[in-house]
Amino acid sequence: MLPKINPTQTAAWKALDQQFANNDFSLRTLFQYNPNRFSEFSLKTDSYLFDYSKNLIDSKTLGLLLNLAEETQLKEAIEKMFSGDKINETEGRAVLHTALRDFSDKPVLVDGENIKPGIQKVLEHMKAFSESVISGSHKGFTGKQITDVVNIGIGGSDLGPVMVCSALKHFKTRLDVHFVSNVDGNHLAEVVKNLNPETTLFIIASKTFTTQETMTNANSAKDWFLKSGAKNEDVAKHFVALSTNIDLVEKFGIAEDNIFEFWDWVGGRYSLWSAIGLSIVLSVGYENFEQLLRGAYETDVHFQTKDFKENVPVLMALLGIWYRNFYAAGTYAILPYSQYLDRFAAYLQQADMESNGKSVDRNGEFVEYETGPIIWGEPGTNGQHAFYQLIHQGTELIPADFIAYAKSCNQVSDHQDKLLANFFAQTEALAFGKTKEEVFAELMSSGKTEEEIEKLINYKIFAGDTPTNSFLFKELTPFSLGQLIALYEHKIFVQGVIWNIFSFDQFGVELGKVLAGAILPELETAGDVETHDSSTNGLINYYKSNR
Ligand code: F6P
Repeated sequence: MLPKINPTQTAAWKALDQQFANNDFSLRTLFQYNPNRFSEFSLKTDSYLFDYSKNLIDSKTLGLLLNLAEETQLKEAIEKMFSGDKINETEGRAVLHTALRDFSDKPVLVDGENIKPGIQKVLEHMKAFSESVISGSHKGFTGKQITDVVNIGIGGSDLGPVMVCSALKHFKTRLDVHFVSNVDGNHLAEVVKNLNPETTLFIIASKTFTTQETMTNANSAKDWFLKSGAKNEDVAKHFVALSTNIDLVEKFGIAEDNIFEFWDWVGGRYSLWSAIGLSIVLSVGYENFEQLLRGAYETDVHFQTKDFKENVPVLMALLGIWYRNFYAAGTYAILPYSQYLDRFAAYLQQADMESNGKSVDRNGEFVEYETGPIIWGEPGTNGQHAFYQLIHQGTELIPADFIAYAKSCNQVSDHQDKLLANFFAQTEALAFGKTKEEVFAELMSSGKTEEEIEKLINYKIFAGDTPTNSFLFKELTPFSLGQLIALYEHKIFVQGVIWNIFSFDQFGVELGKVLAGAILPELETAGDVETHDSSTNGLINYYKSNR
């Protein structure tokens, strides 16, 4: 079990409160008075540079944040997670996505049993199956090779694979991998409309195999397949399942050989490393999937062994807490300067918000401090032409992570230097802004009169002091992507530990599911409904008379 310490009762929290009240940090000043700021507040590994010098901290603040980690017993919590302690207490489960990418010789025990041989067996199954599909030796029901794969899943059974397949497009095999998640029939219809049932493989990805959206899409996909003239026995060649619920998969009609198992100690939003990654394996090949796992393992070792002051996920988490709990920053932006990471923020929304969007602490009490922020973002430079205005000159403090790669996968003219010039310029502008004096001088030299300047000047000031982290990786590879994803997974874990909440359940998704289950039969019968509040009745009845 994790420690159950109210962070606000620690000496470190109280000192941080004081530190916040007594200091008015300015990044201009912090940089001006400390010529070593970059080297003091940045870390390099073999594959990336993590620069956190453009944060509203000095070494005293950082020391207090590190004390907070000590006082909330983070070290013990990390050990408990990696060793298979049932830290998901509300669901009575261990949290062992890290075991899925553990390349050490050490056993990992759950209820006294070493889970690593089982993990290895599933990986071998994934390898053999993917090789047969990619090589074309696995044939469809009319003897043709598979050309397209459709992953049907939602939430953790979709977002991780979608994000990784997009990020690793450069490493793609000959297969085209598609994703269907939404129960909106338009999603499935648009994906299958250009596919040939004879050459399409469906992956039904669902930890529970009960999720309404996934089961509805899976049944409709099977209907679409059977309508092509295929017979029930042909389903075996075109449908596989990724699940912990073997009984329900078999009831759906998927043969045992076509089931890729995983286990209840893998949380949905942490499952891309498990059998849920089969779409990734088909998309980029098994070797690249293994590299992804190896990259995550490298981060796991870093997280477990590095002193907290050199521990990237710990630093990311502590900085996030500084802004969330002391600066009251309600949101956090993820801004990758790579088109390949176009789904990274969407993926992190589930990873972070489903984990730390909680308001009851580990003692069962309602918290009296803020927990997980809203996570959002889009790839730069697109974001610059959309929402950066608000980050630069709006009334919210929005801390942000900037992520970029030194080498481009595709050298296209001078695009890469232009992209990176924007990456560097934005964190510089956000940190240092433009003062009234600078704006005045600029307008004067452009020939404006004092009267004209007076009218314009306030609009052109940039307050600066918007904090950012920069991650500059050498290149985007399966290995470095694995490292990056695991950095965020552990950041989320650290924040959950310090906030004294349970990060691995998701009871907040249940109420809506239950109510939808009650409403569905009301939609299937004729006549107006009167069983809800007037708004819900009004909406349902309008729908029924207009569908
Ligand atoms: O949205 C709730 C949730 O349970 C997620 O945690 C999970 O990733 C998703 O639904 C899908 O669940 P399953 O893999 O069981 O279909």
